[in-house]
Amino acid sequence: MKTRIIICGACGKMGGNVLELLKTDENAVAVAGVDLYPREIGIPVYKTFSQVKEEADVIIDFSSAENLEERLAYAKAHNLGIVLASTGFTASDLERVKEYAETTAIFKTANLSLGVNLMQALCKAAAEVLGDGYDVEIIEKHHNLKKDAPSGTALMLADSVNQVFNGEKEYVNGRDGIVGARKKTEIGIHAVRGGTIVGEHEVVFAGEDEIITISHSARSKKVFAVGAIRAAKFLAKKKAGMYEMKDLLSEENA
Ligand SMILES: NC(=O)c1ccc[n+]([C@@H]2O[C@H](COP(=O)([O-])OP(=O)(O)OC[C@H]3O[C@@H](n4cnc5c(N)ncnc54)[C@H](O)[C@@H]3O)[C@@H](O)[C@H]2O)c1
Repeated sequence: MKTRIIICGACGKMGGNVLELLKTDENAVAVAGVDLYPREIGIPVYKTFSQVKEEADVIIDFSSAENLEERLAYAKAHNLGIVLASTGFTASDLERVKEYAETTAIFKTANLSLGVNLMQALCKAAAEVLGDGYDVEIIEKHHNLKKDAPSGTALMLADSVNQVFNGEKEYVNGRDGIVGARKKTEIGIHAVRGGTIVGEHEVVFAGEDEIITISHSARSKKVFAVGAIRAAKFLAKKKAGMYEMKDLLSEENA
């Protein structure tokens, strides 16, 4: 049977990409959408989850951090998995996600592309080899409509470096004014916004007389939609818990 999917944020750019891919997917289908601003897109779209009538297996969420509780509660009540691809969640949102993961299968990643997940591993490996002698700075670039900054992916990359330093690094978002010399404990994160940039991430390890840069460039939003559908199919068979890209990759490569 096909994996039946509800798209949250169905009328947005990512929702549209997911819907388009699902039209020709042999193993998954979009049964309904939820969007704050419903419009005709070829599947039923509702303003809230309480109006959804269609049966489903998984929610793919590409909406926003707002009303997170509604989609988590719906997933729990109907025993659905949920791929949380939206970004911009607060620390207390993330606590709620963890609580729901006790009863609901939740797949959460700030970046669904295979390349960025490899980049995360490369950054961690670089930090392990280079240690404290190299200053780490992250530059991310996105389109001029992006609401949150820095990007969830930039924070994810910072976290993978910070793990190596036992969480001792402090994230400094942009710099302004007379900030003084850079502290060893800083990871600087810089957000560029402009035009239609899909998503660029650069992690710079600046040492004495040499610089190592690890970078990734997404050329279309399709790459994230492909990852979200893979995650939805993976999650449909899973029991309650928190899952991420590395769980999917290790299962696919097993
Ligand atoms: N994890 C990833 O790999 C990845 C990749 C791309 C985008 N994103 C994230 O996905 C989200 C959507 O991105 P987009 O470019 O499609 O944005 P978008 O603004 O084009 O679309 C968002 C859609 O969601 C709807 N929406 C917003 N809040 C809602 C809510 N609470 N309930 C229901 N619908 C709601 C909006 O009306 C809109 O139609 C953003 O948070 C973005 O950062 C994540």
